Amino acid sequence: MVFVHPRPRGEGFNMAKTSDDRIAVLVPEERIQQKVAELARQISADFAGTDGLLVIGILKGSWVFLADLVRRMTVPVIIDFMTVSSYGKSTKTSGVVKTVLDLRQPLQDKDVLVVEDILDSGLTLKYLLKNMRLRGPKSLKVCVLMDKPARRRTDITPDYVGFEVPDRFVVGYGADYAERYRNLPYIGYVEETETEPRTAQTPGARGDEEQA
Ligand code: IMP
Ligand code: MG
Repeated sequence: MVFVHPRPRGEGFNMAKTSDDRIAVLVPEERIQQKVAELARQISADFAGTDGLLVIGILKGSWVFLADLVRRMTVPVIIDFMTVSSYGKSTKTSGVVKTVLDLRQPLQDKDVLVVEDILDSGLTLKYLLKNMRLRGPKSLKVCVLMDKPARRRTDITPDYVGFEVPDRFVVGYGADYAERYRNLPYIGYVEETETEPRTAQTPGARGDEEQA
């Protein structure tokens, strides 16, 4: 396991300046980029005949992944975003999801690909897919960068998966820990310290309403 201190050093990354957290690298940048290229190839092949694939990013977690993914696709794409938040003081997704920012594109008769950073319990995606199906898409597929199957509470199976990850709270490449670390180019997890113990599923200062 490689340990990287996310504080800027010399010419290094300018990130997480206020943090003393140590991030253990789970998936290095090169492997992410390889996998993204592979997923883009697969998706482009599967949608070869499409007259336009509507790629929907779920904000905020998906934006880094989506930006890399669509730039490697070879089919015509239209991009849209949806912001949802889940309610509850608990650090786990409550399943009660609110639409904060809705789509601007109609889904009627479109090939739709929903892009998410991580599939955890699946409650957020369950809500989203139910909502989207009502809008009459021609096809509706799901692509997640990370899948945490150990925590699934729904029967959702993603169509495209980047990495299966263990039951730990992961950050980076779009995924946050109390809004930090989204800009890390790799996927990792916050190392527990003796002064600030955390459980794997305790993402620190999460509020009543958590953006996906
Ligand atoms: P679900 O509804 O439990 O599947 O949770 C989905 C959302 O919770 C994801 O889109 C993430 O925003 C967030 N989430 C779940 N697990 C993690 C994690 O390990 N790191 C960062 N965000 C997570
Ligand atoms: Mg998310």
